[in-house]
Amino acid sequence: MNDVYIHPGTVSIDKTLFSLAELPCDCSVAIYGAGQSGRALRKLLGGLRPDVRVLAFVDSFASGVVDSLEVVNVKQLESLRASTEAGCFIILVASDFWADIETTLIERGVRDYLLVDCHELDALRERFLSDRPEKPCHYRELFVRTNGDIFPCCDVGVRRLSTKIGHIGDANVAEKIRNFNACCSCSRSRLRRVGPDDPKRYVLLYIEVALQCNSRCPMCYADAPSWKGSYDYYEELTRLVDETRPIVLKIMGGEVLLQKKALDWVAAMRQRHPDIKFFLVTNGNYPLSKIPLVEELFHMVGVSTIVGFQPETYKRMTGLDLKRTLRFAEELVARKKSAVAVAYLMTPINLHEANLFLRWAIPLGPRRIHLADANVEAYIEMGTWDLYWPKIIDRTAEAIKSEIVSRRETMRRNGSVLWVTKNNVRLLRIDEDFITTNDLGDIVMPSAGAYHTRFEEIFKSGLDSGSNNGLWPDNGLGLTDALPFF
Ligand SMILES: C[S@@+](CC[C@H](N)C(=O)[O-])C[C@H]1O[C@@H](n2cnc3c(N)ncnc32)[C@H](O)[C@@H]1O
Ligand code: SF4
Repeated sequence: MNDVYIHPGTVSIDKTLFSLAELPCDCSVAIYGAGQSGRALRKLLGGLRPDVRVLAFVDSFASGVVDSLEVVNVKQLESLRASTEAGCFIILVASDFWADIETTLIERGVRDYLLVDCHELDALRERFLSDRPEKPCHYRELFVRTNGDIFPCCDVGVRRLSTKIGHIGDANVAEKIRNFNACCSCSRSRLRRVGPDDPKRYVLLYIEVALQCNSRCPMCYADAPSWKGSYDYYEELTRLVDETRPIVLKIMGGEVLLQKKALDWVAAMRQRHPDIKFFLVTNGNYPLSKIPLVEELFHMVGVSTIVGFQPETYKRMTGLDLKRTLRFAEELVARKKSAVAVAYLMTPINLHEANLFLRWAIPLGPRRIHLADANVEAYIEMGTWDLYWPKIIDRTAEAIKSEIVSRRETMRRNGSVLWVTKNNVRLLRIDEDFITTNDLGDIVMPSAGAYHTRFEEIFKSGLDSGSNNGLWPDNGLGLTDALPFF
């Protein structure tokens, strides 16, 4: 069995290889594309990641030998996979025809592939060689999935194939965390093994409980709408919280607010660990009568997955009433008892309504406004003869930017910050250029780079002052600004 962790709905996750460091140590790969790009990628891997074994090239039509390496037809992919010893096997798609290849792979039920942007091989090299600090990430952050698997952070899509640390039920879980090592990197750090002098300073423990949900989002990466399981890891979670004593405990489902056991557990944890800040991620589709309970249990609330800003769009996506979600968020913000973020999730059917979301969200004045995405490009064909999608996306970008620029003073007054995910930065061109030209540097964060700068500053000041567990210094930015809301 491959030690590969891939969500059922991987097509909606960003499957582009960001750095060569993301490939698991000692994994085997097949390079789909035996042209110039595929061969260049093989060379790059040979130079920078000699531990990665390139087993073969793959081609949709041909077979044979290129550069002394076998070219197998896509139909032989399964026998190639079967021939690998136990361990990780990944297909790296390195071709300008990646979209067609991706369709072929998906049609064949293949999910363990990553797309390599052939025009970015230099960037891949630079990223790998860049001096991102090495850190024992798993002594700062942990993520526990519904099935009890533990990872060093929540970014466990296909990009973190071999970063499973262990299972929450393992008797020696603390030892597994201490001894953990993997090839893993992101825009903020490269994971390294824990050293003898590394303190355990957990900023974030991120827990995914049962996937029971009131919504039927078609793009849900957790596939919550079809979940039928049961969940009971609360004893194990309690032990992990006692062990890690995180500054923030973030919890999501599915929908936590539908789950009595989860709510009872949070209440018990609040008693047991009064210093921990509790953070809920919810779709917010609840009656206002739920709000006192939410405020009693959670310091921070992310009202997320707003997938449409016209009632019919939201209903088609979720089966739910948009008004109810908006009222819930409005009331939470107005009462000022918890730090609130609101997040719009762009998918093809609703991306053009994102400006309407901003027109609502900015005057509302939550701590954070998020323009997230479900990897829109994975669902659409950008290159049709009439450039239908680029036109729609360009018009949407203009409408969004106009909302941001015209309402920037409102954001400043309210102390709100807008976060834009990496894909949206690129798609909508909410880039450094736009930010600088319009003097938005203090209120618009173009994804990970800006966020991680803040995160690191705050984390470092916490380490310097030796504080932990609720003694986190609020150095003007505030804890909630330092942590990923979603
Ligand atoms: C699985 S949901 C669970 C929490 C809650 N039910 C909600 O929707 O906010 C956790 C987060 O994942 C996001 N999400 C769900 N499907 C996604 C996808 N395909 N791509 C990106 N984010 C997604 C949601 O917007 C939400 O912020
Ligand atoms: S509300 Fe959240 S958990 Fe439920 S289906 Fe939508 S994204 Fe998934």
